Amino acid sequence: MKLRIVSEPPAGSWTTLKFICKDERASLVPPPSDAEFSGDVGALLSERAASTLYAGLGESAKLDDAAIRETAGAAALALRKRGKRKVLLLLNEHPKYVASAVEGFVLGAYRFETFRPKKTEPVAELVVVVAKKDLADAKKAAEHGLILAEAANAARDLANSPGNLLYPKTLAAAAKTVAAQCGLKCRVLDEKELKLRKFGGILAVGSGSSRGPRLIELIHAGGPKGQAPLVLVGKAITFDTGGISIKPAGNMEEMIFDMCGGAAVLGAMQAIARLSVRRNVVGILAAAENMPSGTAYRPGDIVTMHNKVNVEIVNTDAEGRMVLGDALSWARSEHKAARIINLATLTGACGVALGDSAAGLWSNDDAFQADVVRAAAESGERVWPMPIFPEHIERIRSDVAQIKNSGGRLGGACTAAAFLKVFVEKTPWVHLDIAYTAHCSSDKHGLASGATGFGVRTLVRLASGG
Ligand code: BES
Ligand code: MN
Ligand code: ZN
Repeated sequence: MKLRIVSEPPAGSWTTLKFICKDERASLVPPPSDAEFSGDVGALLSERAASTLYAGLGESAKLDDAAIRETAGAAALALRKRGKRKVLLLLNEHPKYVASAVEGFVLGAYRFETFRPKKTEPVAELVVVVAKKDLADAKKAAEHGLILAEAANAARDLANSPGNLLYPKTLAAAAKTVAAQCGLKCRVLDEKELKLRKFGGILAVGSGSSRGPRLIELIHAGGPKGQAPLVLVGKAITFDTGGISIKPAGNMEEMIFDMCGGAAVLGAMQAIARLSVRRNVVGILAAAENMPSGTAYRPGDIVTMHNKVNVEIVNTDAEGRMVLGDALSWARSEHKAARIINLATLTGACGVALGDSAAGLWSNDDAFQADVVRAAAESGERVWPMPIFPEHIERIRSDVAQIKNSGGRLGGACTAAAFLKVFVEKTPWVHLDIAYTAHCSSDKHGLASGATGFGVRTLVRLASGG
C-alpha cells in the first residue's frame, strides 16, 4: 500500500474516511439515529455519501490508540470489500494517533486471497491528512505504524499458507528471503546439522514426515558487539496431525496455523531490522511437520533433548514443547541469551482457560514479565499472567525419565509451561501461549479472518523498548 502524509488534500477522486467520536455524532447533518450509527469503536456509517465513510471512535473521553487502531481496521476491511482503491484519511484533529491509525488501517486492509477465484482489490493508496505543523512528526509516526503492520501482515501471509506448500524447508527459504531483503543474518540447520548437534526433540517430532525439520535463525546485530541478545523463539509446526496420537478429523485443517509462533518471530525480526533497533536480537524458529508414519516417534519413546534432559513421550500430539525445549536450550547454549521470549500455539487448554481474546503468559522473571505486559498493552494484544505451581511440575515428572511430555488434562496449559521452564533454567523468560489468539474464523476487531499476526507488534515494541 502506498502511503503519503500531507497537509493539503490532493485532487482526484478519493474515498474520504472520517473518524468521529460517539458524543460528536450530533455534529453530522442530519444527526444519525443510534440504530443507524452508534459511534462505538468499529461502527461504520456510509449511507450519507458514496465517497465518505464515517467510523466510530467510542466516547471521546475514552479515546486511545486501541480504539483508533480497531476502528481504522474495521474501516479498511469495509473499504476493501467495497473495492475502494484510494483512501483519504482525515486526522487533522487527532495528530497524536497517526501511528495507530496507519497501523490499524494496514492491518485491516489485509486479506489472504492468493487462492481465491474472485479477489477483492486491495487498497492501493492511503493518504493521511494532518495540519501543517504536525506534518514532520506525522510522517515519522506513519512510517513506524506501517512497518509494524507490514511485519504482522507478512507473518499472516506465511501463517495462512497451507501445509502442502509451507513446510520446514519452504519456511526456511521464506526466512532467507526476508533476511536478504532487510539485512538480517540467516542460518538454517538442516536435518544433518540437527543430528550432529543432538536436537533430539526437533528430530523426534520431524521424524514422521518425509519433509524434514529445520532450525531457522535470524540475527540482528543492532547492539554493541558482545551484548547478550534478546532471543525470540517461535513454535513452527507447519502442520500438526498429532502424529501417532492422531487428532480427530474435525477442524484439523486449522493446524496449518501451528506455525504462528514462528511466523510471528520472523515478522518481528523483519520489523526490528527495518527499524534498526539498537540491540542485539536473535530470532529462532523451530520448524517441523508432525505426521504419523512408520518412521514417526511414538508414545513410550524416550527422547534425549538438546540439553541432555531425557523426556518420556506419552503423547506425540504434545510436540510443540519438544521442538521448543531444544530451541530454548540452543538460545542459552549457543546465543547466551540475556532474555528469552517464546511464542507458541501450544495447548488447547489455554483456550479453555482464557478464551480467544487473550494469550496466556508464564514467566520466571517479574521484571521481564512487566516489560512484555507493557509492550503487549501498547500493541493492543491482550496477554494474561498464568501460574506454574509446584503441582504443575509434579504432574510432568516421569517414572522412567526426567520428565514426560504431557501432564494430562488438568492444568494442561500450565503443565506445558512447566515443561518449557526446564529448558530455560535461570535465564529470564516469558512464554506466550497463542493457541487461540493466533487465528480467528471470522472478521473481527478490525482484522480479517485467518491468521491475526498476534505477537508480532508486541515483540517489536519489546525489542525497541528501554
Ligand atoms: N497445536 C496444538 C495446540 C492447539 C490446539 C492449538 C487447538 C490450537 C488449537 C498442540 O500441539 C497440541 O496438540 N496440544 C495438545 C497437548 C496435549 C496432548 C497434552 C492439546 O492441547 O490437546
Ligand atoms: Mn499437537
Ligand atoms: Zn501443535
